[in-house]
Amino acid sequence: METLDEVGLGTMGIADSETIVLAIERGYRHLDTAQIYDNESVVGEGIARADCDRKSLFVSTKVWIDQLEYEAVIQSTHESLDRLGLEYIDMLYVHRPRDTYDPSETFAAFEELVNRGIVNHIGVSNFEVPQLQRARKQLDAPLFANQVEYHPLFQPDGTLADAQENDYYLVAYSPLANGRASEIPEVVDVAQNHAVTPEAVCIAWLTDKDNVIVIPKASSKAHLRANRNATTLKLNSTEKSQIDGIERETEFFPE
Ligand SMILES: NC(=O)c1ccc[n+]([C@@H]2O[C@H](COP(=O)([O-])OP(=O)(O)OC[C@H]3O[C@@H](n4cnc5c(N)ncnc54)[C@H](OP(=O)(O)O)[C@@H]3O)[C@@H](O)[C@H]2O)c1
Repeated sequence: METLDEVGLGTMGIADSETIVLAIERGYRHLDTAQIYDNESVVGEGIARADCDRKSLFVSTKVWIDQLEYEAVIQSTHESLDRLGLEYIDMLYVHRPRDTYDPSETFAAFEELVNRGIVNHIGVSNFEVPQLQRARKQLDAPLFANQVEYHPLFQPDGTLADAQENDYYLVAYSPLANGRASEIPEVVDVAQNHAVTPEAVCIAWLTDKDNVIVIPKASSKAHLRANRNATTLKLNSTEKSQIDGIERETEFFPE
C-alpha cells in the first residue's frame, strides 16, 4: 500500500489559495477536497502557486451524491480535474452511498477512470461495514480508503476493524471534533498531563491507531504547524483508554 502522511489537510471551508500555499510550505502533501466544497479551484490555485513537485502531492476529491451514475461520474470528474488544474487525481472518493449511488454502475465508472490513468486510487466515504463489503465485492481494484467521521466523541469501531482487517486506510475526518476538542474534559485532562493542546491530543490518539490517518482543517500558520507536529506526542495506555472509553456520542455530520 502506498504510504500516506499521518496528517493531511482537510480543506472544507478554505476559500483562499494562500492557505493551501502555506500548508504545502509547511510540509502538507495530502490535500483533501470535494466537489461539494466548491473550492477545488482554490486548492488547484494553491497547488499551482506553491513551489512543489506535483508527484510529491496526494490530492483527493469526492464525487457528490447527485453525480454517481456512470456518465455523471466520468463527466464530473473531468470537471473536477479542470477546476483543480491537474492531469490526474490521486484518490477519488464516493462522497456518500446515497441518492444516485449504485455499486455496480458507480464503481464501473471509477474503474474506467483508473484505466484511463486519470485516477490513481479509489476511496469511499461515510460507508458502514455492509456497504464496505459490497464495495469490495464490486471492485477489481483494491479499496484504498474509507473516510469517516472519527474523533473522541464519535468512535466508529466497526469501520476501524474493517480497515485494519482488510488493510486500507481509515481517513479520520473532523479529527478535532469539528473544532471543539477543548470542550471534551477527558481530552483536556490528558492535554494537561503533557502541557499540550487538546487538539494535539486528538491527533496523537487517532494516529496511534493502525491504518488511521487524519485530515484536520486548519487555516492559520500556527494551527497548520501544530497539527503536523502533534504526531510526536505519545500517549500512555491509561491516557489512550481514558479517551477510548468516552461513551457520549456527538456526530457532527450525520447522514
Ligand atoms: N467526507 C465527509 O463527508 C466529510 C465531512 C466533514 C469533513 N470532512 C473533511 O474533514 C476535514 C476536517 O473536518 P472539520 O473541518 O469538520 O473539523 P476539524 O478538522 O475537526 O476542526 C477544524 C476546526 O478546528 C480548528 N483548528 C485546527 N487546528 C487547530 C489547532 N491546532 N488548535 C485549535 N483549533 C484548531 C480550525 O480552525 P482554523 O481554520 O481557524 O485553523 C477549525 O475551526 C474537512 O475540512 C473535510 O476535508 C469530510
